Amino acid sequence: FNITLLKTKIQYSIFNFGLYFLTGEVRYSIPEEMLTESLVGNVAKDLGLDIRRLKTGSARIFTEGGAEYFELNTNKGTLVVKGRIDREELCAQIFPCTLNVQVVLENPIEFYEVIVEIIDVNDNDPIFPNKNIKLEISEASMPGSRFALLSATDNDVGLNALQTYTLTPNENFNLKIRKQSDGSSSIDLLLIKQLDREKLEEHVLLLIAIDSGSPPRTGTVEIQIVVLDANDNAPVFTQDIYKTTVEENTSIGYMLISVTATDADKEMHALITYSLTHVTGNGGDLFEINPSSGGIKVKGHLDYETGKMYEITVQAKDAGGGTGSCKVIVDIIDVNDNIPLITLMSVSSEIPEDSGPGTVVAVIKVQDKDSGKNGKVFCLIDDNIPFKLKSSMTNLQSLETGAFLDREITSQYNITIFARDEGDPSLSSSLTITVEVSDVNDNAPKFDKQHYTAYIMENNSPGNSFFSLRAKDDDSGVNSKISYFIDQSLVQNISVLSYISINFEDGTLYAVQSFDYEQVKRFQISVIAKDGGSPSFSASAIIDIFVQDQNDNAPQILYPIQNKASPGPEMLPRTADDGYLVTKVVAVDKDSGQNAWLTYKLIKSTDQTLFKLGPHNGELRTIREVTEKDPTRQTVVISVEDNGQPAQSTTVTINVAVTDSFPQALLEFKELSQEANRESDLKFYLVIALTVVSFLFITFIVIFVTFKIYSWRRSRLFKACSNGNLPVIPYYPPRYADVGGTGTLRHVYNYEVCLTTDSGRSDFKYIKPVLHTYSEFRI
Ligand SMILES: *[C@@H]1O[C@H](CO)[C@@H](O)[C@H](O)[C@H]1NC(C)=O
Repeated sequence: FNITLLKTKIQYSIFNFGLYFLTGEVRYSIPEEMLTESLVGNVAKDLGLDIRRLKTGSARIFTEGGAEYFELNTNKGTLVVKGRIDREELCAQIFPCTLNVQVVLENPIEFYEVIVEIIDVNDNDPIFPNKNIKLEISEASMPGSRFALLSATDNDVGLNALQTYTLTPNENFNLKIRKQSDGSSSIDLLLIKQLDREKLEEHVLLLIAIDSGSPPRTGTVEIQIVVLDANDNAPVFTQDIYKTTVEENTSIGYMLISVTATDADKEMHALITYSLTHVTGNGGDLFEINPSSGGIKVKGHLDYETGKMYEITVQAKDAGGGTGSCKVIVDIIDVNDNIPLITLMSVSSEIPEDSGPGTVVAVIKVQDKDSGKNGKVFCLIDDNIPFKLKSSMTNLQSLETGAFLDREITSQYNITIFARDEGDPSLSSSLTITVEVSDVNDNAPKFDKQHYTAYIMENNSPGNSFFSLRAKDDDSGVNSKISYFIDQSLVQNISVLSYISINFEDGTLYAVQSFDYEQVKRFQISVIAKDGGSPSFSASAIIDIFVQDQNDNAPQILYPIQNKASPGPEMLPRTADDGYLVTKVVAVDKDSGQNAWLTYKLIKSTDQTLFKLGPHNGELRTIREVTEKDPTRQTVVISVEDNGQPAQSTTVTINVAVTDSFPQALLEFKELSQEANRESDLKFYLVIALTVVSFLFITFIVIFVTFKIYSWRRSRLFKACSNGNLPVIPYYPPRYADVGGTGTLRHVYNYEVCLTTDSGRSDFKYIKPVLHTYSEFRI
């Protein structure tokens, strides 16, 4: 090092002069921190002292403050460093820094002043107050921002303490150093480029303070700059567009997809909240998002038919308000959840049965809201009905008749149209159309039978219904509404309509007049049934009408002839044996059957023991021989009764003359009649026979005359005879045959007798046998 020896002339201080004998002063400059034994200066030489004097004077030194920094080498007369001299310790920032050393000699006492100036040596580094500087700077800070730093200090002085600063090179910061009025510097960290936490979260810079010593010393501080996050980053989704598919009808709560956004910011600034900002179409209520996880769930009913695709805009928002968005495209997959829909566009609920094949009955529209196979629909109907489906357009089908229809076989069709889609599983629906086949008059009325037999009791009251017949018509409505008519014909030359009428609506037959079996027994009418169609159809049936007998006629006695005068007696020869046929009562009954079945009864006779009567043949016979005692005149009362219900009867009184001979008999009965008797004796018989023939002839004449009288009295019975409508007086010969024991008698013949009343010369007009058939009525 450089020792500057300042040898100044000895100065005497007035003050010192007063106290001491100050002989000289010497000034040295030494740098601080010299090694021990380092030479400060040759005091003896510089003070002009002899080495020996130092010895003899017991030279000693005193250092100001008592510290022993120096030592006096009395052998050499040099002042050397004894201890460490630290300028900073001695003087701190006082400048110049001097130590006063007194050299004291004795014998004589002499004082010498040695001033040692301690020269600063750059032995101190600049020192920052802290080892580290930690700064927190928001990345949002703008360039130009300053951040004050504490400056470094240096214990050295002067140039050794004069500092400059440097900063490790970086692009964000610079130093700004300002000299302050007191000479110190203030250091600011100047932001020259905005920080980006996301790029570099922590900057470590070294700030170096350099003093101007030689060599210079440095002090370093580490500046740790933590870049504080500013919400300068918006959340960013991992994908711009997410795509997902979901089946329609997916249950609510189904997790569709999860979207994720990241935010480069930290903590709060990276706290993302998700929300749905927009859903296309009507999907506003269909989705929900978990605000924190970003999971998107189904919230409503997804229906492919109302929305096939949704575009959801998802927003992610960080706490600082930064937002990012993405799109989620949700494709809805069709599920076969719609049944085919059959719509009836038009329908004729009624078609006439004569419609030909191909007549359109209905037009249907088939729709299925599903798509693809799920929406492809096939229609079919039952094969067994005469209808078919014809598709005319894409989804229009017509239901047509496939054959001729017949209402009388099937009047109504329930046509079920089945529609089935091709989904898996497929769905189907059906529609039933009821088609009425309307009637066309294609059926004629039909009677059950061609021939009917009807019975009517005679003496009916006019207007009575006695029979009903119906015709059926397979058609319906007016086409089957049948009216009944009687075909005009004549019955006994009178229009049948004066006998019978018919209710034209229900076919009930009424008797117009009261029938008399004895006049009309049977006739035939033809009834026509006509339907109400247009044109109409008709049918006819024959009805045989039988007038039924009623027991309305009492038996009529033909023989013995009854008139007002007492009848002629029957002859009974006294010679007659038992079993002798006295007479035979002949009676007829105009009725027929049971009503004409006559029974003869002997009601009263003069002598009960003499006669018996054949109950069926009316033969009055003797039951014993006639005796002389038997009275000549016998009276027998006979009742003839028919078998009707109630029975009718007629009585006849027969006088029997018991005679010995024919002339006697004539004498005995002087009345009108004569009789013949029969004898067992053949000769007698022959005589009698001749007599009887003559008698019968006369009798007949008498009877005839009697009839004339009788007729005149009861002319009304015969009044019609003159104009051709003669009453029928059937004569039944005694040839009734009880056929088959049924009790009914069959008329084999009858004779029609016409009598005149107007002719003066009465006679028979004609008598002829008639084969009586039921179909003929003649007079
Ligand atoms: C058609 O359906 C109706 C109503 O269900 C029913 O009354 C009728 O009997 C059915 N007709 C046929 C021919 O099946």
